Amino acid sequence: MTEIELLSPAKINLYLAVTGRREDGFHSLISLVAPLTFGDRVTVSVEPGESGIELECSRAGIPLDKGNLAWRAASAFLEAFDIQASVRIGIDKKIPVGAGLGGGSSNAATMLLALTKLFEVADSKKVTKIAESLGSDCPLFLRSVPQVMRGRGEQLDSIGDNARASLARRQLVLFKPSFGIATPWAYRTLAADPSAYTKQEAAEAAIKSWKDGDVGLEGLLFNSFERAIGKKYGAIPLLLKRIRDSIGSACLMSGSGSCCYALAEDSDVERIRALVVDCWGNNAFFRVSRIEDI
Ligand code: C5P
Repeated sequence: MTEIELLSPAKINLYLAVTGRREDGFHSLISLVAPLTFGDRVTVSVEPGESGIELECSRAGIPLDKGNLAWRAASAFLEAFDIQASVRIGIDKKIPVGAGLGGGSSNAATMLLALTKLFEVADSKKVTKIAESLGSDCPLFLRSVPQVMRGRGEQLDSIGDNARASLARRQLVLFKPSFGIATPWAYRTLAADPSAYTKQEAAEAAIKSWKDGDVGLEGLLFNSFERAIGKKYGAIPLLLKRIRDSIGSACLMSGSGSCCYALAEDSDVERIRALVVDCWGNNAFFRVSRIEDI
């Protein structure tokens, strides 16, 4: 096999508690994160010979060199496994940038999975280490199932069969305003107001009561960034409040924003779309998707 095409899924954070700042400058967090059926398509082909990486992307403005996490993933993989090969990468980009949907990290992890298959590499620990070195959100995309993230995002735990079954194929709508939010800025903003951090015990208790079935998913949804980001980007809490008040759907911002989502039955989708257009205009991104579980 010399070519492979894979879905590079977006993710959403169903629960995201930032619990404090670590000595290395990163933040510790506890998050329930789920991959979606919505994502980019990544095609990878390899040929033996002199090492080189070529990247094409369907969307203008995306870096095509080492500024792209997928390029860096390919380079790190070839080096780690001492492989000489030319790698061609094609990314059909659908996931918006600066959205909190993990697009760049997902592309990088998908690259690692593609190269693992193409070169029949068995050392999954080494692949995980490469993913960790690329970014905090990268390792979670090595497995297409909902997981709980801890540490700076690299400690991943399965959630158990019952919890998984309750999430699998759950429908939601994604919507993003025309602006994006840079993750480092979002973390800096949070760090400037430490009262925005969530206590670790409270976060663990929230996840446990959901896993035990004491609280439904709607009751679990929480994001530590929502208040801090809402202060600057008032359009986000405004729309979320309107969806909660007039439709009653549970909704939240994903990650450090700016994309949001609402858990939506079929009958809610068009009503939510109308509110999104009303608050954020026709240029807002809007997609129906589902939680993936492979
Ligand atoms: O790990 P990644 O490169 O995705 O992180 C981007 C930035 O987000 C980091 O440089 C840091 O400012 C912030 N971050 C953080 N704590 C995390 C994850 C990210 O402070 N757990």
